Amino acid sequence: MSYDLIIIGAGAAGLMCAGRAVQGGLSVLVLDHAKRPGEKIRISGGGRCNFTNIHCTHKNFISQNPHFARSALARYTPQDFIDLVERYGIAWHEKTKGQLFCDESAQQIIDMLLEEAKGMELRLECNVLGVDKFDAGFVVTTSREAIEAKAVVVACGGPSIPKMGASRFGYELALRFELPLVEPAPALVPLTFTGELKEPIAALSGVSTNSVVSHPGHDFEEALLFTHRGLSGPAILQISSYWNPGDSITINLAPDIDILTALKKARTETPKQTPEIWLSQYLPKRLAAYLASHIKQLRLADMNDAALNNLALMVNHWHVTPAGSEGYRKAEVTKGGVDTNSLSSKTMEVKSVKGLYFIGEVVDVTGHLGGHNFQWAWASGAACAEAI
Ligand code: FDA
Repeated sequence: MSYDLIIIGAGAAGLMCAGRAVQGGLSVLVLDHAKRPGEKIRISGGGRCNFTNIHCTHKNFISQNPHFARSALARYTPQDFIDLVERYGIAWHEKTKGQLFCDESAQQIIDMLLEEAKGMELRLECNVLGVDKFDAGFVVTTSREAIEAKAVVVACGGPSIPKMGASRFGYELALRFELPLVEPAPALVPLTFTGELKEPIAALSGVSTNSVVSHPGHDFEEALLFTHRGLSGPAILQISSYWNPGDSITINLAPDIDILTALKKARTETPKQTPEIWLSQYLPKRLAAYLASHIKQLRLADMNDAALNNLALMVNHWHVTPAGSEGYRKAEVTKGGVDTNSLSSKTMEVKSVKGLYFIGEVVDVTGHLGGHNFQWAWASGAACAEAI
């Protein structure tokens, strides 16, 4: 049996591509080694799927070519996906910063994508072993058989969360076709600490506070969470995508207040107050106690300018060097991947191999937290299907 199109990976990008291709009249076979389609969609957004972001532009993505995602994102917009969601009567809400979630369940998005792709053939628990090009198309070899297709779309994501079926297969395939890779690395991932910060951070586990986390050239204002192993929360996940081993990050634990100015004022107005009590107006109590434990003086009145400055720096300018990250085991996405120089930004087709396409997370296009990664999956899937 021969198909117009074989898609490897029944995830977000693969299912979107399948739907558009089937609706365009193509015969489509989707292969996935997992037991169920769209497993990452199912667990996304805490089970409610942050399916897009209304502010999404190419500026929300990390790639060696920051303009690569532009064309596909412009042709399949967040509003296009919202229209689709509404056509299926799926209720949604904006949580914060343009992030749209299902009111009920991420499963609704999977069901919608499967319904859109009605007519495709879906083979699950099917291990794809290789793809070979011949004159008229491709032969895809699976653990069961060899299948022919005129075109092949590689939509098998990156290696983050291996226990969910994530694999490096897309990269292996790219290398087999002599396509360069941008070094993959875990992204949107908690950062870990060793040494003198390990214990105090672990002791603050569960504390969460609004913060601005910075890495040269990038700042994110979101919640920061202390954990048993380090720092997490949206602000840290965002900066982790820019962080490289050995780099420091700077954290402003009270971004709405200039602590030094406020401390100087308080030293005059409420001199008997302890640094801990004063800080706890602005920070969670346990965090205030930890920061104040570095101060020898018991009252604001006893603190000289240098002491005030030290405390202010710890709050507004906490400079830390993470020891590492939680790695692929906990990374929401993988940055890097198939070098965009080898793909057409309009169609996702490999420039040197007609009929072969790469879409979604396997490509060196990595979104910020907040629905951007799914928007890239939808947009790259749609761009590719239109071209086939
Ligand atoms: P995806 O990983 O979805 O699909 C790849 C498919 O290929 C899988 O079904 C896999 O089984 C299959 N596959 C892999 N190797 C194969 C092989 N050798 N043979 C056959 N099949 C193979 N993003 C967002 O925008 N909003 C959100 O709320 C979240 N939330 C979130 C939570 C968690 C816990 C994670 C891990 C990730 C997110 N994300 C997210 C990121 C988002 O899930 C991710 O970017 C997209 O799923 C990527 O879509 P793809 O289709 O490219 O890969």
